[in-house]
Amino acid sequence: MLIVSCSHGRYLGPSIAKILKANHSELFVSKFPDDELMVRFKDDVKGKSVALIQSFYKNISDCIVEAILAAETAHDLGAKKVILIAPYFPYLRQDKRFHKGESISQEIIAGLFGKYFDAIYIIDPHLHRKDSLENIFRIKSVKLSANSLIADYIKNKIKNPILIGPDSESFKWARNVARIINAESVILSKKRYSSYHVAVNLNKKINLKNKNVVIVDDIVSTGHTIIETAKLLRRLGAKNIYCICVHGIFVNGALKRLQKNKIKIISTNTIPNPAAKIEVSGIIAERVR
Ligand code: R5P
Repeated sequence: MLIVSCSHGRYLGPSIAKILKANHSELFVSKFPDDELMVRFKDDVKGKSVALIQSFYKNISDCIVEAILAAETAHDLGAKKVILIAPYFPYLRQDKRFHKGESISQEIIAGLFGKYFDAIYIIDPHLHRKDSLENIFRIKSVKLSANSLIADYIKNKIKNPILIGPDSESFKWARNVARIINAESVILSKKRYSSYHVAVNLNKKINLKNKNVVIVDDIVSTGHTIIETAKLLRRLGAKNIYCICVHGIFVNGALKRLQKNKIKIISTNTIPNPAAKIEVSGIIAERVR
């Protein structure tokens, strides 16, 4: 297998290739003056199984075009198989038409990737109304999970933890990680009014005395979900508040805002960021092998 790092996969490609004892190559990516992208394989892909690594953050649209250009070029140059390793895969949250006339972006983007790749591997995809990747992609799709890594991190670094999931969907992370380390977990409910306005509620009593509170979720984007959750938990007596997420998107200064609210924030490195302390290349290599 040849591991090829796209522009947003370069921070992970070499370590995945090293674990797999596979060859690694960087995709050459350039932009024309009018912003069009062009990609070029530096190594021969003919007859090879090619694993493209691309995480989809910052300029997501460019990341998508680059991955599609690379996949089709690899096929065109005679690759035997082209798979996509997406530590973070975007557009999964818009899984229905929330308002009249909207796109169901999840279906459209998954359909597009299905045309160009033979298989796709995604770490902790945000699945809600469609609860498995097989219901979304028409190609082989494999879900990886960072839960065991988050569990190890908590076990090694945080004493007496109680895990909090900020909304009904977060049980897949908060409750499942709590089970691995035998800790208590509580799932809250959330109402989202807009991208920047959420309200979080607790439906039962919890005792936070002498506990280190660890909020666990898949995505932190604006950070408002976590900040509102932390405010509620502080009113209930929480002293030390951690937040561990899989995908630290952290838009518009979210990381600073979280730190200003005295939340100790940690993420995996599915998206590179200053809070990324949990390394995911091992769980990728294990499944792609
Ligand atoms: C949504 O349900 C996700 O699990 C996260 O809770 C959400 O994306 C966080 O967004 P934000 O950080 O903007 O509140």
